[in-house]
Amino acid sequence: MKAILLAGGSGSRLYPLTQVASKQLQAVFDKPMIYYPLTVLMAAGIREFCLIATPSDLPRFGQLLGDGSRWGISIEYREQPTPAGIGQAFLIAEDFIAGGHVVLMLGDNIFSGGDDFPRAMAAFRGGATIFAYHVKDPQRYGVVEFDSEGRAISIEEKPEHPKSAYAVPGIYIYDDQVVGIARALKPSPRGELEITDVNREYLRRGQLHVHRLSRGFAWMDAGTTTALHEASAYIEAIERRQGVKIGCPEEAALVRNFLTLSQFEALLQNMPNCEYRDYLASVAAETRRLRCE
Ligand code: G1P
Repeated sequence: MKAILLAGGSGSRLYPLTQVASKQLQAVFDKPMIYYPLTVLMAAGIREFCLIATPSDLPRFGQLLGDGSRWGISIEYREQPTPAGIGQAFLIAEDFIAGGHVVLMLGDNIFSGGDDFPRAMAAFRGGATIFAYHVKDPQRYGVVEFDSEGRAISIEEKPEHPKSAYAVPGIYIYDDQVVGIARALKPSPRGELEITDVNREYLRRGQLHVHRLSRGFAWMDAGTTTALHEASAYIEAIERRQGVKIGCPEEAALVRNFLTLSQFEALLQNMPNCEYRDYLASVAAETRRLRCE
């Protein structure tokens, strides 16, 4: 399976931070935001990526992530000339998708905990799989309503009067119908090709699977300065308590065997002396010990 990382948008709610770097390049505690969704996908075994961003931000993503080869993955880049909605990603990346299955993930969604995503991706056979997460403020999101048997019966984008407390996070799995569905979308009142309309079409076709994320799962979006700060504080607390990092692509590459231990250790040579490098060095030492090398 391939993945699209969408890092578009004007980031106006994070002004003035976003005057020099887009939202998805801002720091969430000790790493750029985009590392978190990228690592979730790598940890699920995905190696082929297409990153979509505005023409002005794209070079900065390229500078940060390169072609991915140093992490054993490939990253292609595509421009989103105007912020015309999440649904536009499938049209921009049509040649990348090339008729296969694809995961779309938003560059500002941060997750921690559970193995729901790798399991859902491994189990995916067709149609669409989306996720649902209980939140206090569903009106900020796509909202899914369930019937008494737990089946999804409606999805609405940022409803004033939400029919449930289940928000749809920014990670979606689709089969090859998605490009055709995206092509038929009409812009919403806010002028965007809505991902919610893509999901509604799968629901209409009887091919939408909604996976409810468990309580222990953390989902944060970092769309406002307060949310960004809270996400940083959360990551910091977990990392300090556990002594393991969240959102570390190098580590995911090692765990998934995208890199050998020697390739992983070679990466450290090119890093300055810093806490991040120290952490990776400790991961290398522990891996060497466990593998009895
Ligand atoms: C978008 C989607 C919404 C989804 C959210 C997740 O919202 O339109 O359905 O719940 O991402 O982060 P937006 O980024 O436009 O606020």
